[in-house]
Amino acid sequence: MTVPIGIHDIALATGHYAMDLAELARHNGVDVNKYYIGLGQTSQTVTATDEDIVTMAATAARQIVARHGVDGIRTVLFATETGIDQSKSAAVYVQDLIGLPAATRSVELKQACYGGASALQLAAGIVARDPEQRVLVIASDIATYDLDSGGEATQGAAAVAMLVSADPEIAVLDETVGLYTANVQDFWRPNYRSTPLVDGKLSIGAYLEAVEQAWKDYEARGGSGVGDFAGFCYHQPFTKMAHKAHTRLLELKGIEATAARLHADLAPTTIYNRAIGNSYTASLFVGFVSLLDHSDDLAGRSVAMFSYGSGCVAELFSVTPVSGYREHLRTAGNRASIADREPISYERYRALRDFALPQDGTDLALAVASRGPFRLSSVSGHSRIYGAAHTR
Ligand code: CAA
Repeated sequence: MTVPIGIHDIALATGHYAMDLAELARHNGVDVNKYYIGLGQTSQTVTATDEDIVTMAATAARQIVARHGVDGIRTVLFATETGIDQSKSAAVYVQDLIGLPAATRSVELKQACYGGASALQLAAGIVARDPEQRVLVIASDIATYDLDSGGEATQGAAAVAMLVSADPEIAVLDETVGLYTANVQDFWRPNYRSTPLVDGKLSIGAYLEAVEQAWKDYEARGGSGVGDFAGFCYHQPFTKMAHKAHTRLLELKGIEATAARLHADLAPTTIYNRAIGNSYTASLFVGFVSLLDHSDDLAGRSVAMFSYGSGCVAELFSVTPVSGYREHLRTAGNRASIADREPISYERYRALRDFALPQDGTDLALAVASRGPFRLSSVSGHSRIYGAAHTR
């Protein structure tokens, strides 16, 4: 009998500020319902000047280490598409900040928003080879688009950390997966740009095609039927995309995508993403945390997970929550991290967007702006220097 492998713990972090999309609608002169209803987004996380993907990642991962310790963690897989360095992995900073042993393999992974799902599968492989090991998987991103572009309404930021182990306490990662890769230029970010280039309509079409193709591969490999799942978690660049994707899947299977069916299958997965916005690699797992925090007991019932990373790579897989998982959730803390964000106006958001770290090697000490356990305290000699809260 093979040992079950999966998510032993899962923790969420997001940034310091929240901008209601009514603020952006006011600036853009559009009906706010385009964002609230048309995109299914109410607000977006905006990070403070002393936050980045590392501080969010460490904030999420710290919760896991506080509960489970560091024993057996020999690998950190950090998925992101908003990396802070072309060479050094963000995982190295997190390994240091949360006090993992030096005997750790620390790596960064990239394939747009798909990176987190790929890290989860790679982690399962490591644990399968040695079930004594536990792997820390982190997905952390800050989604930023050009000012006054259509994508700006879908910005956001969050990190999700997961401990992958044998005999997990949250959910078993099921073995059958469906895969799809196609060379599509729907969303990409050349090294010389801080914001992505995106063909919004093409990206939606590419995502929907990926749903269909990944599902067909999943079915061909003996996967479950649509009716077998207790829920459907999709990558959510904006929550309405989950509706479009699920409609495509249901129609592929000849099932009418009624509003009631979409609500029943998707609603609990969209609550956190609706407030946070797109968090790229983390978005699928934010949706999963939202599902766990807002559902009746799902123990023993599979949840379909669809990861889409522009460019594009997609994977359809599933997880099965285990008996007793609800005792290990962090529902109150997750809700607080979203509810406690400081609301900001469009004007404040613009001022934050105008701020940029030095590009020329100039040193800069950063004023305290956020209140999380870790912060970016300075840039010195082209290096980011992080501090824990007690070093402020
Ligand atoms: N009341 C209600 N709904 C309204 C409305 C109103 N007053 N006004 C407009 N709407 C609806 C529209 O009908 C539309 O809904 P449908 O798509 O269901 O028809 C919706 O609001 C959005 O309107 P537009 O399509 O006109 O919006 P837009 O062109 O300004 O931008 C977007 C939409 C293309 C998604 C843009 O936000 C974008 O480029 N986003 C970034 C790319 C993206 O998120 N792509 C998703 C797939 S790729 C992926 O998933 C990877 C990733 O993370 C990036």
